[in-house]
Amino acid sequence: MPHHTFSAFHAVSSTRRAFLRRSGALAGVAGLAAATAARAEDKPLGANDRIGIGIIGCGGRGRDHINIVKGMKEAGAKVEIVAVSDTYRPRMAKQAEALKAKAYFDHRELLADKSVDLVCIATPDHIHGYQVIDAVRAGKDVYCEKPVTHWRQYELTKRMVAEVKKSGRIFQLGSQGMSNTAWHQAKKLIQEGIIGQPIHAECGYFRVGDWGEAGMPIDDPNVKPGEDLNWDAFLGDANKRPFDVSRYFRWRLYEDYSGGPATDLYPHSFTPVVYMLGVGMPSAVIGLGSISRYHACKEREVPDTANILAEYPEKTTVAILGTQGNNFPGEPELGSVGRAPTIRGWEGTISFDNQSIILTPAEGSKRQRNRWPIEHGEDVRLHWQNLLDCCRTRTQPASPVDLAWHTQTVLQMGILSARAGKAARFDKETESVIV
Ligand SMILES: NC(=O)c1ccc[n+]([C@@H]2O[C@H](COP(=O)([O-])OP(=O)(O)OC[C@H]3O[C@@H](n4cnc5c(N)ncnc54)[C@H](O)[C@@H]3O)[C@@H](O)[C@H]2O)c1
Repeated sequence: MPHHTFSAFHAVSSTRRAFLRRSGALAGVAGLAAATAARAEDKPLGANDRIGIGIIGCGGRGRDHINIVKGMKEAGAKVEIVAVSDTYRPRMAKQAEALKAKAYFDHRELLADKSVDLVCIATPDHIHGYQVIDAVRAGKDVYCEKPVTHWRQYELTKRMVAEVKKSGRIFQLGSQGMSNTAWHQAKKLIQEGIIGQPIHAECGYFRVGDWGEAGMPIDDPNVKPGEDLNWDAFLGDANKRPFDVSRYFRWRLYEDYSGGPATDLYPHSFTPVVYMLGVGMPSAVIGLGSISRYHACKEREVPDTANILAEYPEKTTVAILGTQGNNFPGEPELGSVGRAPTIRGWEGTISFDNQSIILTPAEGSKRQRNRWPIEHGEDVRLHWQNLLDCCRTRTQPASPVDLAWHTQTVLQMGILSARAGKAARFDKETESVIV
């Protein structure tokens, strides 16, 4: 069973902190055995040590992270962005200049820099897994943007998870919705038996917008691969193709680099559900996907609508539903998580609005209708703070690598099922996906 803690919001006593630091030192030694270049002191970070951060990917999300970390530093956090990397030089140079940080055109050079303790990976989806492996091998802790990998990279994801564990490095997935205490409160209620045996859950993401065509600017339509742009590094393990400026800047439209809403948006919605249910791998997944609204863009290959059903050995089914072609104003939404999830059990249903967790008894149940206030909502700064705390205490953060793996496998299986037109199955013995 996955073990997910949420240490940021729990006070850690000084004795416990000292213990965690010691156990962290041991984890660190294991990690360093595999490291190619570790941080200078080769020891865990203390409460007063500055954490040096390297940003890999200076596009839209990378710039968000730069602003978040800058804000945290201004508020007194002991952090500093010391280096940036991007395969498109003008984006990298602009951030390096503004931050007075070092610039590395090749992310491996950034990883060899001993002043970098932690990297934030905000590159296109199909690049994440490889860069996480490179980072933990280099002794760095990691904030990796969701989705943890690309839809065709199940085996890479599995390898990446093993590498992260072997390294002893701290890994946080960028599903910042996990900073909402609602999920931790609801998980506790579910564990206490408030809904009885969980049997069914729904979650999803409904929005209006052609993320990709409209949302991704082509900085320079005349740029060519070379000094300013590394096309091969962008392609990674994807099909080798001649340079295409649209593919480079608007990669979200193409299935070589993206999975559409299933992997772009549903990690946000589905991660809290996997966490609350405490499930691991599914037994079977069925997926459907289609371009239902945004036909006009001739480059679009990925669906704008995707619906996935996952069945678990625990006899629980989860429906992950959504489209980018319609939202439903007034339906409860919880920040980046999208549509508020519903968890049904034999005795009752847990649902959410922006302020509360709601229990509705099932027909025939003796449970009473109830409501609990959500302690605090989503805040990406808390997601970062949680990671920074865990880097110091060497504990598991809110969105750890097993949770990322379990979530992503279902989404990958959903896409593989949709493409194959049949159910995808998970083989527990061999930990493999069969379609
Ligand atoms: N958590 C969230 O709410 C959230 C929001 C937006 C994006 N994201 C995720 O962040 C990631 C980046 O998305 P984006 O919108 O910033 O895309 P983007 O295209 O704006 O930025 C990606 C950047 O990576 C660079 N790049 C490409 N290949 C690289 C490589 N091999 N090494 C280094 N740099 C490379 C590109 O030049 C580009 O500047 C995606 O995985 C996306 O899903 C998460």
